Amino acid sequence: MTRLVHLVAGTLAILTIATFWLSTALSELFASQATVVAVKTAIPWGFLLLIPALAAAGGSGFALAKGRRGGPIGAKVRRMPYIAANGLLILIPAALYLAAKARAAEFDSLFYAVQALELCMGAVNIALLSLNMRDGLRLSGRRRRGSRRIAEPGSSSLGP
Ligand code: HEM
Repeated sequence: MTRLVHLVAGTLAILTIATFWLSTALSELFASQATVVAVKTAIPWGFLLLIPALAAAGGSGFALAKGRRGGPIGAKVRRMPYIAANGLLILIPAALYLAAKARAAEFDSLFYAVQALELCMGAVNIALLSLNMRDGLRLSGRRRRGSRRIAEPGSSSLGP
């Protein structure tokens, strides 16, 4: 059950942040100003999905790790503070700021500077989450490196 929660929450977190990134990039490049305002206004509401999904992925991940900190599990654990700090200190404030600016129709140079920063740091978090997903799929055996699962010190079996 914890494994299913982890799989669903982790996948949902990546899909949500990738949707934010793509809808922002596509609307800025190709859509009308009204669409940009709609996208920028909708993204903060998406946090209601993203933040619980990330918290559930992290919490269930630590439960699945059962105290193990070696190899790919250690790498996953080390990425989490960067993912969280990037989200809390940069991505959430940037999204709230951009939503307010867009609603006020203030598409000035500061808007685009913050927008560029948000896209760069969003791409960093997508990359870190994707690495966590890759390592997770290897750990669970859904994605194989060679023909065997990664052996974790202290793990008797990872199941069938
Ligand atoms: C939010 C970031 C994370 C994402 C996107 C993520 C994603 C995944 C995915 C997709 C799987 C495969 C699940 C399956 O095939 O059933 C997995 C497995 C796993 N993850 Fe994560 N994970 C994240 C964070 C963590 C953290 C922080 C830890 C450890 C503290 C962790 C520990 C594990 C373990 C131990 C497994 C193997 C579960 C098993 O098959 O027994 N994950 N992860």
